[in-house]
Amino acid sequence: MSRFSHARALLTGSGLATLALLSSLNTARADSAVLARGEYLARASDCEACHTAPGGVPFAGGRAFNVPGMGVLYSSNITPDPKHGIGKWTDEEFTRSVREGISPGWKHLYPAMPYPAYARMSPAEVKDLRAWLATVPKSANTPPANRLRFPFSIRAIMIGWNLLNGPRSSYPDDPSKSAEWNRGRTLVEGPGHCADCHSPRTLTSGLSTSRAFAGNTINGLRAYNITPDRTSGIGGWTDEALAQYLATGHADGHGTASADMAEVITYSLRHLTPGDIRAMVTYLRDLKPVASDDAPAPSRVIVSNNGTVPQNTRGGRLFVSACAGCHLADGSGRQTPYANIAGARSLSANDGHNLIRIIMDGSSLTTRDGSTHAMPGFAGGGYSRKDLTDITSFVMTHFTEATPSEAALNKAMDAK
Ligand code: HEC
Ligand code: HEC
Ligand code: HEC
Repeated sequence: MSRFSHARALLTGSGLATLALLSSLNTARADSAVLARGEYLARASDCEACHTAPGGVPFAGGRAFNVPGMGVLYSSNITPDPKHGIGKWTDEEFTRSVREGISPGWKHLYPAMPYPAYARMSPAEVKDLRAWLATVPKSANTPPANRLRFPFSIRAIMIGWNLLNGPRSSYPDDPSKSAEWNRGRTLVEGPGHCADCHSPRTLTSGLSTSRAFAGNTINGLRAYNITPDRTSGIGGWTDEALAQYLATGHADGHGTASADMAEVITYSLRHLTPGDIRAMVTYLRDLKPVASDDAPAPSRVIVSNNGTVPQNTRGGRLFVSACAGCHLADGSGRQTPYANIAGARSLSANDGHNLIRIIMDGSSLTTRDGSTHAMPGFAGGGYSRKDLTDITSFVMTHFTEATPSEAALNKAMDAK
């Protein structure tokens, strides 16, 4: 076709229709790209884990957060429902809430919502996230009212907190570091908000920067030291093991991510690309090593004892009836490699804290292929406190050289 007849074709009705079709195809393509970016960011930021009550509609809120000394607060309904959710909000209102912790009507959010970390995402990224969030099913759920102690019940006190600890902001890449490191920093410090659980708190409940990622107790669990320190952190892990743990929730010789970390994998990290997992590993490896006082005890190598569990303690006998159906004498899983607990930090931590909580509350992990591996909770299942501390002490001394203390285990039992 000559140039001339091409221009004429455009002026005819069919030409216009073709143009209209082409441009609508373009918008459709742009929209799906925005939605894909938004969904990926929503996964990387773990919004669903906190904004879904146990057994509840995704993103409809109502999950309880027990903040010691402050009281209980509940996550909000962030589905697009116009009345009970955030359907009526503008993108600007949403971005301000997520990055600055200020919802419409000057409602100052509590930092149980990790807006200081989310401020690392650019406003454009948060807008993409919102576009995807607007596509999830609406829910008319109204979360319970917060039960916070005075003065924490007054939202305006967050103005002061924000001045001390509040929103950071997105930052330019550090040109002295690799692109992979910069991507890792963005993911870990921003959407991943890993420090929210893994960094100790300052006196004003801000995140410690001098001891960043050196471990913290949160939601009744120990989020371990994940700095490269060799004894109390993860300096002894290989890059491959760390990547495997983050991508799948399990690394041979390090056990399985459980409880809150299992949720991080289930809702968030299992959705990330291998390249993004590698970037996170690169950044975590380069953190300042910080020693903490909860270095784990050495693991025991369980020499083959004919696959039998020693029966000379009450705890050992209870382990056989309650646990050995899924965990073998050497810690390997009977039905699934995800139940291979040998080498797990929860077994070797001297306070036995996470171990007894996992035994009490159970844990569930959904991994990359969508399969779910669950461990039942034993609290309230006809087991006395003494039964539970006996099993825990047995597990600690059978698999590791940890030194269980009845007092520490009882304290952990009451931690939630
Ligand atoms: C660690 C838990 C946690 C995570 C992760 C989390 N939130 Fe929240 N979010 C909360 C809690 C708790 C509240 C209620 C805070 C309050 O009442 O002050 C909240 C409040 C909000 C609000 C304010 C709603 C309102 O009605 O004022 C929005 C919007 C919101 N979250 C969006 C998100 C998005 C988007 C993500 C992911 C990028 C996310 N949240 C991730 C815990 C979380
Ligand atoms: C909601 C709190 C929470 C968040 C957010 C969180 N973690 Fe964890 N993490 C934990 C807990 C609790 C454990 C211990 C799990 C266990 O005992 O099985 C843990 C364990 C780990 C471990 C294993 C440490 C060891 O010595 O066994 C690594 C590695 C880790 N987390 C990395 C991360 C990274 C990277 C992020 C951010 C993407 C992150 N975590 C976000 C709570 C959290
Ligand atoms: C029905 C099978 C089943 C039974 C019974 C069971 N577990 Fe588990 N357990 C699992 C699975 C699957 C996992 C991995 C899933 C997860 O951690 O979220 C697991 C995880 C664990 C972990 C976490 C390991 C880590 O790396 O942090 C510990 C500790 C544990 N089990 C101990 C026990 C003890 C002690 C008992 C008995 C009181 C027991 N389990 C009973 C299936 C079971």
